[in-house]
Amino acid sequence: MACLLVSAILFLTQSQGGVLERRHLDNGALLETLKSEVGLLSNKSEHYSAQVRPPGTSRQIPQTIIIGVRKGGTRALLEMLDIHPHIVVAATEVHFFDWDENYVKGIDWYRSLMPFSYENQITIEKTPGYFTSPQVPERIHDMNSSIKLLLILRDPTERVISDYTQVYYNRLESHKPVQHFEDIVIKNGALNAKYKAIQRSLYDIHMERWLKHFNLNQIHIVDGNTLIKDPLPELQKVEKFLNLPPRILPSNFYFNQTKGFYCIRSDGRERCLHESKGRPHPVVNTTVLDQLRCHFREHNERFYSMVNHSFHWH
Ligand SMILES: *[C@@H]1O[C@H](CO)[C@@H](O)[C@H](O)[C@H]1NC(C)=O
Ligand SMILES: *[C@@H]1O[C@H](CO)[C@@H](O)[C@H](O)[C@H]1NC(C)=O
Ligand SMILES: *[C@@H]1O[C@H](CO)[C@@H](O)[C@H](O)[C@H]1NC(C)=O
Ligand SMILES: *[C@@H]1O[C@H](CO)[C@@H](O)[C@H](O)[C@H]1NC(C)=O
Ligand SMILES: *[C@@H]1O[C@H](CO)[C@@H](O)[C@H](O)[C@H]1NC(C)=O
Repeated sequence: MACLLVSAILFLTQSQGGVLERRHLDNGALLETLKSEVGLLSNKSEHYSAQVRPPGTSRQIPQTIIIGVRKGGTRALLEMLDIHPHIVVAATEVHFFDWDENYVKGIDWYRSLMPFSYENQITIEKTPGYFTSPQVPERIHDMNSSIKLLLILRDPTERVISDYTQVYYNRLESHKPVQHFEDIVIKNGALNAKYKAIQRSLYDIHMERWLKHFNLNQIHIVDGNTLIKDPLPELQKVEKFLNLPPRILPSNFYFNQTKGFYCIRSDGRERCLHESKGRPHPVVNTTVLDQLRCHFREHNERFYSMVNHSFHWH
């Protein structure tokens, strides 16, 4: 009962302030954008790593895009899909559809950032900011109305904490002041529903926009909580969705005890996710945790019915 009341009040507050983020300034991506804007992209940059075109290949605009969500496990998903011989992936987050200054450069600019591929390969890029950016669904639809989209989601409360954690470490590294999680999330005793990280976790609100432009069967949702615990079954579902032959195998993964994560073994190479992934989260006050879960509950229910699938988030 208390939960319902609180969410009703918060829901009102949030629909009044309902502006969602325009873009997120992930440091790495920002740097890439700045570099390309001032023409500093060297030939060695990841963007242009394959300067020499292997015979029989060309650059293609993506037939599939991982649209988000930020801190949902997009990097893990992309790296794992990269195991598949029929998949090539863009090295960096491109931010073509969500950043106007990139979008105006046009589709040829976008294509030029894609790796070379053979005809039987599909190109995938991921930019986690797409999912929550209002203008993106229509722009992607304009490019290819039958495109297949991948969306990786995790428990929305965990996602908020992970979002906070990333910003926290970025600020620490650049010697900026940091705040406790609880002090950001709770303002004057109530949940701070305007906090961007909370708004990004309102999956129903974002999904509604996507479903105005795409059929549900064009959007495959990967369960990020499952992908981390047991990658293969989730990846096999993606192979099916993309009509690819099953080529990702149990032997492509090994569990790294130190990291507590799966690492990837393919083409005789082993790779684990970058150190910044899977950083330890702060221990959050359980009252605050309950308030967050309470806030997301009805949004989650709405999302489950929208996508006809229950994710059993808290
Ligand atoms: C990149 O390579 C091309 C040809 O190989 C060369 O003309 C150009 O100057 C190089 N650009 C940079 C920034 O090194
Ligand atoms: C659009 O996307 C579909 C699904 O991935 C793909 O089969 C098709 O080739 C794409 N069209 C273009 C023009 O890229
Ligand atoms: C496991 O993770 C640790 C910590 O990140 C790393 O130093 C080590 O190289 C990894 N080992 C393997 C076999 O991937
Ligand atoms: C959690 O926060 C509430 C107020 O929001 C406070 O009353 C409570 O003591 C805190 N619990 C812990 C374990 O710190
Ligand atoms: C919803 O999912 C169930 C099985 O999970 C399926 O039988 C049903 O056709 C789906 N409905 C829609 C509208 O997609």
